Amino acid sequence: MPTYYIKTYGCQMNAHESEKLAGLLESNGYSAVSDMADADVIVMNTCCVRESAETHILGNLGIVKKLKEKKPSLKVAVCGCMTQATDAAKRLKKRCPFVDIVIGTHNIYKLAEYLKDTNGGAKIVDIWDDDGGITEGVPVKRLSKLSALVNIMYGCDNFCSYCIVPYVRGRERSREPSAIISDVQSLVESGYKEIMLLGQNVNSYKSGDIDFAKLLDMLSDIEGDYWIKFMTSHPKDISESVVKIISKKPRLAHFIHLPVQSGSDRVLELMNRKYTKSDYLDKIDMIKKYLPDVSLSCDVMVGFPTETEEDFLETLDVVRRVGYSNLFSFIYSVRSGTPAAEMEQVPLDVKKERIDRLIKVQFEVAARLAKESIGKIYKVLCDGEENGRYVGKTQTDKKVLFVAEKNPIGRFVEVRITEAENSKLYGTEIR
Ligand code: SAH
Ligand code: SF4
Ligand code: F3S
Repeated sequence: MPTYYIKTYGCQMNAHESEKLAGLLESNGYSAVSDMADADVIVMNTCCVRESAETHILGNLGIVKKLKEKKPSLKVAVCGCMTQATDAAKRLKKRCPFVDIVIGTHNIYKLAEYLKDTNGGAKIVDIWDDDGGITEGVPVKRLSKLSALVNIMYGCDNFCSYCIVPYVRGRERSREPSAIISDVQSLVESGYKEIMLLGQNVNSYKSGDIDFAKLLDMLSDIEGDYWIKFMTSHPKDISESVVKIISKKPRLAHFIHLPVQSGSDRVLELMNRKYTKSDYLDKIDMIKKYLPDVSLSCDVMVGFPTETEEDFLETLDVVRRVGYSNLFSFIYSVRSGTPAAEMEQVPLDVKKERIDRLIKVQFEVAARLAKESIGKIYKVLCDGEENGRYVGKTQTDKKVLFVAEKNPIGRFVEVRITEAENSKLYGTEIR
């Protein structure tokens, strides 16, 4: 049996696409190996959202090159976002001539076919510009037995001025509700406890007269013991109707990832985010009104072109005021082909100094929130053990380490928080 190894970079969208690539390869007779060196086929499913991702991928391709020198029959495929960027495939072909297959984000489902086509030693570079289609029915080999990723829409039409995603993922398109419902139904029947709905901007979901709120309403009627989470929401699009449905339907988790990116109105305008700091804070107030126990997470960028100290202080202010249980902070990275790449750049030392301050503020916020949860009881989905304790995530996406009498792995349990160490939560199962 030929073997394969997939290396995944980037977001959950890519993680799920790798699960589809694995499903596809297995249905074509390939079996997985855990060591790259044992594989007959290596697939690099790439990301290009920041330069650091690309540097990392090119570094790993150096390792793959050495493997191919030792074993010339090894086939190497590079797919995903990095190859879809303008001329990236050509550059990659030049820089890494040992790569056999270069495909983009729209035709990854053809990988098995392309592998056959390379049997005589042919090289394939095939990037599609087409961005209107959705391929249904691709087999999926899921990495987790508890938490399942389910796409509801693809692509992005927002064109934030720093972001490459709309160029590499194409226009927004939504899956049919019936296809999503049938996926969720079968996942719940086969024992999945967490359904994570995926899209670059889930609140843009639209199929006929079904919008995201209606979709959530329908999905959460599916019988079973599970919860639904989703990501990502754009602050301009998250509506009161979505939040109202979450407050009404117990299977919808009280957790929202709502990336603010910056707290400065001037920077938000340059970013083309289409909201102001006060619009954003109003949305947060609306969410907290319906969901007083909500847990919020966020993406923030520092050092966007022309960002001043005052702009940055506005970002720190949002972080302090909202109180995110999780903050993903990034240094702005120039993406060529995007409008922000042409703007006046902030020096790297200033960016680094700002991100350090941001991380410090968030550390204090997360520690404060963790302390406030002492004594509270949370529903936790237990998925393993860590340092002699069981570990799981709350409905509000907080990680908890806890003790329990009977092994709770794979089940929902009620946990009382007894201790907090910085942002870490510790607890005991209650019966
Ligand atoms: N659709 C999602 C974001 C996908 S990209 C959303 O709108 O939230 C994930 C995160 O990467 C973004 O939220 C942003 O914070 C960050 N990001 C995107 N482009 C970037 C760039 N050029 N430099 C640094 N961070 C970037
Ligand atoms: Fe990028 Fe903005 Fe689209 Fe998110 S909403 S993927 S940040 S362009
Ligand atoms: Fe995701 Fe990176 Fe592509 S963040 S959509 S894998 S550019």
